[in-house]
Amino acid sequence: MIEKRVISKRCGLINPLSIDDYLRTDGYAALKKALKTDRIKLIEEVEASKLRGRGGAGFPAYMKMVGLAKEKGPVKYVIGNADEGEPGNFKDRYLMENDPHQIIEGMIIVAFATMASHGFLYVRGEYSLPMSTMQWAIEEARRNNFLGQNILGSGFDFDIEIRSGAGSYVCGEEFALIESIEGKPGRTRVKPPFPTQKGLFGKPTLINNVETFSNIPLIISIGGQKYAETGTKSSTGTKLLCLSGNAKVKGVFEVPFGVTIRQVVEELGQGTESGRKIKMVQLGGACGPIIPEYMLDMVIDYERFEEFESKTGAGAIIVIDDRFNIFDILMRVVRFFEHESCGKCTPCREGHAQLAIILNKFIERKATAKDLFSLESLARVMHQTSLCGLGQTSPTAIISTLRYFREDYIEQIDYPTNLGGQ
Ligand SMILES: Cc1cc2nc3c(=O)[nH]c(=O)nc-3n(C[C@H](O)[C@H](O)[C@H](O)COP(=O)(O)O)c2cc1C
Ligand code: SF4
Repeated sequence: MIEKRVISKRCGLINPLSIDDYLRTDGYAALKKALKTDRIKLIEEVEASKLRGRGGAGFPAYMKMVGLAKEKGPVKYVIGNADEGEPGNFKDRYLMENDPHQIIEGMIIVAFATMASHGFLYVRGEYSLPMSTMQWAIEEARRNNFLGQNILGSGFDFDIEIRSGAGSYVCGEEFALIESIEGKPGRTRVKPPFPTQKGLFGKPTLINNVETFSNIPLIISIGGQKYAETGTKSSTGTKLLCLSGNAKVKGVFEVPFGVTIRQVVEELGQGTESGRKIKMVQLGGACGPIIPEYMLDMVIDYERFEEFESKTGAGAIIVIDDRFNIFDILMRVVRFFEHESCGKCTPCREGHAQLAIILNKFIERKATAKDLFSLESLARVMHQTSLCGLGQTSPTAIISTLRYFREDYIEQIDYPTNLGGQ
């Protein structure tokens, strides 16, 4: 069995609304240990664990901690990102609904290590059950003095407030999220400065995905080096994957990095619901690459994903069987991003509409060889010149299909039959 339930080990087995259940299963033990540990040592443990962010970009977790810790001043923020707007992803929801205290504990430990004063949890607006579960857990944590003033007599003060997202995908992007908490429209900012230097309300801010925070108590409990024994050399630990689409068995599964996509799709997903052949799999979500069936033996780790010119590790695996063609999928992807673009920069604002026009020509078999060239160059320009990750990653599906399904495009080209000559 390839599943390894580590950070999801309590999910389904404890009552998420009971802090006693969490305490009975070693909950808050890591926080108690952390409060007695030197702050630098805590950050070193996270460094040794080689934990990388689970929200998509895969940034080393300890580097953000170092960035925040070295900033001076009485007001510093820690934000848990649970916006989860990426189609095909539902693992943050699973964690919040089933083990809310693990996220809270991770956030408190990070806040303590970096001397942050206040926390926010930004939850996708449509997630009413996760939001109320988290709210309940925060209040229970407060009642038990895991949050609030002088936490467990340590002299450390920290509290968490929930903020609801407003239904925009781009608000998951760190600066758009910050603007949204500040009460402004969710639009990114030009970097640098980075959030750890100048983030929420102009103060140093660390943002991590809630799955990233869920790994922190484990790292502090067992030590960074032990944690790093699971997974691959550079992608350590486990990953929550969201299996969906035409998979027979859909859901959230936790696996160690280094398993293959085929193992996940065939062992956990049990192939397709329809019994038909798998034509392709989209990795990471709508902003991820689409790969053909023959590539399913590739292992799941950050480096492999980065080879697709994409930083997509949020965890979606969308299985698509042979009833669908690539254009069905690409058109939905492009329309989704066209709708979600915030409009701040030209390549993304104008690019999606143009991509849709060209794709439509392929669907209607009216495309020319020049359209193939235009599609490829436009997708690359958007990838390279868009201001934030939305426009930088949205063309990934097109770029990957141009690489692996090129013959599908060529089949749709309308070659002139009458060249007008003798
Ligand atoms: C358009 C867009 C949407 C994003 N949505 C999310 C999201 O819903 N959740 C998330 O954790 N990160 C999201 N991210 C990534 C965040 O900007 C940020 O990298 C992440 O929260 C950092 O956490 P991590 O280091 O733990 O991965 C998004 C990025 C972009 C560009
Ligand atoms: S890439 Fe898209 S979402 Fe990001 S700033 Fe530009 S227009 Fe807005």
